[in-house]
Amino acid sequence: MNKWHNPYRPVRTQVLDSVVETPRIKTLRLRPEEPIVFEAGQFVELTLPGFGEAPFTPSSRPSTHDELFLTVMKVGKVTDAVHRLEKGDTVGLRGPLGKGYPIESFKGREVLVVGGGCGFAPLRSLMYALMERSEDFKKLIFRGGCRTPADMVYREELASWAEREDLDIKLTVDVGDPSWKGHVGTVTTLLDGAGLDSADGIAIVCGPPTMMKFVTAQLVKMGFADDNIYLSMERNMSCGIGKCGHCRLGIYYVCKDGPVFPYGKVKGFPDLWA
Ligand SMILES: Cc1cc2nc3c(=O)[nH]c(=O)nc-3n(C[C@H](O)[C@H](O)[C@H](O)COP(=O)(O)OP(=O)(O)OC[C@H]3O[C@@H](n4cnc5c(N)ncnc54)[C@H](O)[C@@H]3O)c2cc1C
Ligand code: FES
Repeated sequence: MNKWHNPYRPVRTQVLDSVVETPRIKTLRLRPEEPIVFEAGQFVELTLPGFGEAPFTPSSRPSTHDELFLTVMKVGKVTDAVHRLEKGDTVGLRGPLGKGYPIESFKGREVLVVGGGCGFAPLRSLMYALMERSEDFKKLIFRGGCRTPADMVYREELASWAEREDLDIKLTVDVGDPSWKGHVGTVTTLLDGAGLDSADGIAIVCGPPTMMKFVTAQLVKMGFADDNIYLSMERNMSCGIGKCGHCRLGIYYVCKDGPVFPYGKVKGFPDLWA
């Protein structure tokens, strides 16, 4: 970043197309006029003229620089407008912002990734980054849980991951349906007696706050060290660059100091799971 770089200036970005993942979740394929080179876990601010800005973690390959995917759940004003975007529309992107996962420090260790709900979106880019260099890790494990089969994003892609020899993947739903032949139960039930390396392994957790709270408690009970558990935190954001204070979490700004934090750094903050 040179000294004239303006962190508030969005890069003009074209919507190339979009995929409907579930009735409330859509993935956009975007082409920024200037490449946005991000690390897994970092986020961008998406600007929709006339509606506002909102933060999203790219769900695409960090090693692909000319296109970027965002997987967006419809929850309010901006995300509603995101779901109405069409091929050829122009939006703005600011970023990359925040700190991503310290993947280098995971070398030689077992890496367990646990995702819930729309938490699969940021984890897809992390999984791409990990799988591109899977020989660097002792073992790669993915455990994912959704409310129902209809809520599961990237279903076909997840099925193709199950074919990989370098990944141990298990998925579950809270409530099954006739199409679902897999495990039924919360994602914590997939962690029971799973033979994980809790002594030296890394665990990464991303999903709705309640899911993160219970998964983290279970990992601690299993023996994972607080600093070996990485959480991806979400807070309401405005500037995205540590100036406005909207995203405060204890002594940190989630936008600048996170959004990825070792649990040991944020443990005990009263609003941690808000
Ligand atoms: C670092 C980061 C990465 C994110 N990545 C993704 C992603 O990949 N995909 C995705 O779908 N969403 C992601 N989010 C959440 C997304 O930013 C919010 O859903 C979005 O800002 C809501 O905007 P809105 O105008 O549509 O909703 P609003 O009209 O502002 O609010 C609708 C509801 O959502 C709540 N809300 C708003 N913003 C947030 C927030 N940041 N966290 C929790 N609750 C919020 C409000 O309190 C309200 O209840 C991320 C958030 C952060 C901070
Ligand atoms: S969003 Fe402004 S300080 Fe984090």
